Amino acid sequence: MIVIKDLWKRYDKLQVLAGLNLEIQTGETLVVLGRSGVGKSVLLKHIIGVTPPDQGSIDVDGVRITGLKGHELLKAIHHMGMLFQGAALFDSMNIEENTGFYLQQHGDPNTGEPYDPKEIKRLVSDALDMVGLGGTQKKMPSELSGGMRKRAGLARLIVYRPSILLYDEPTTGLDPITAMQINELIVKTQKELHATSIVVTHDILSALYVGDRLALHKDGKIAYVDQPDAFMKIDDPVIHFLHRTISEDPRSFRTERFNLNE
Ligand SMILES: Nc1ncnc2c1ncn2[C@@H]1O[C@H](COP(=O)(O)OP(=O)(O)OP(=O)(O)O)[C@@H](O)[C@H]1O
Ligand SMILES: [Mg+2]
Repeated sequence: MIVIKDLWKRYDKLQVLAGLNLEIQTGETLVVLGRSGVGKSVLLKHIIGVTPPDQGSIDVDGVRITGLKGHELLKAIHHMGMLFQGAALFDSMNIEENTGFYLQQHGDPNTGEPYDPKEIKRLVSDALDMVGLGGTQKKMPSELSGGMRKRAGLARLIVYRPSILLYDEPTTGLDPITAMQINELIVKTQKELHATSIVVTHDILSALYVGDRLALHKDGKIAYVDQPDAFMKIDDPVIHFLHRTISEDPRSFRTERFNLNE
């Protein structure tokens, strides 16, 4: 279980997180929706410990990760993995080396034992097959399309078999069919690993496909969190709009004006 209490984070004059509270149950997939720039990626970076809060706490399975540094932090988060928004592949490594990076660095996440290089090769090959990138092992990240890089980032995450997975926009920039395959993979991974997952997305189809509960990140806080049916009925302009995008013909939006600052 992950417990986030009263989390505050400011960058210069911008108060990004303002007393954010959220609990994620073990084994659930929680989706965080929210408009661009509200602080969703910042929130995930706090959960995995790479960004320290100004105030507040995060407990992961009873361990307070806020305040931990260096080796202590690595030990506390070794069973967590994150797909970063831009995939964050290493430019100088090919796809096979990128995908096997954590296995090579950390060994088996459960025992810490190093892997045999042949075993890494096999696991990487399986993971690349799972994301539809079989045969791209020797390609460099710069030779792949944006969507392929995103899938390589996903392969690098799932190959490590973490028990807590953080996904930052896993389907953004993918064609709708590939996006649906990624949704399937998120659910499959969750079932196989009995994992706890937090999925940040703008994609309401993905949110409804993968989420056990949905949350809306707004004004520095989690404004609402609920099961999908109840969530979609919440009287909030953002949720109402998301609901319309999946229930109405988009041509009906043509006569409306959408204010970017609302
Ligand atoms: N390291 C940083 N230094 C300064 N400002 C930052 C930093 N990281 C994030 N921010 C600011 O915090 C705000 C929230 O950023 P964040 O990346 O979390 O948004 P987001 O909700 O993930 O948006 P998107 O949906 O576009 O990915 C933005 O205004 C961003 O400029
Ligand atoms: Mg983001």
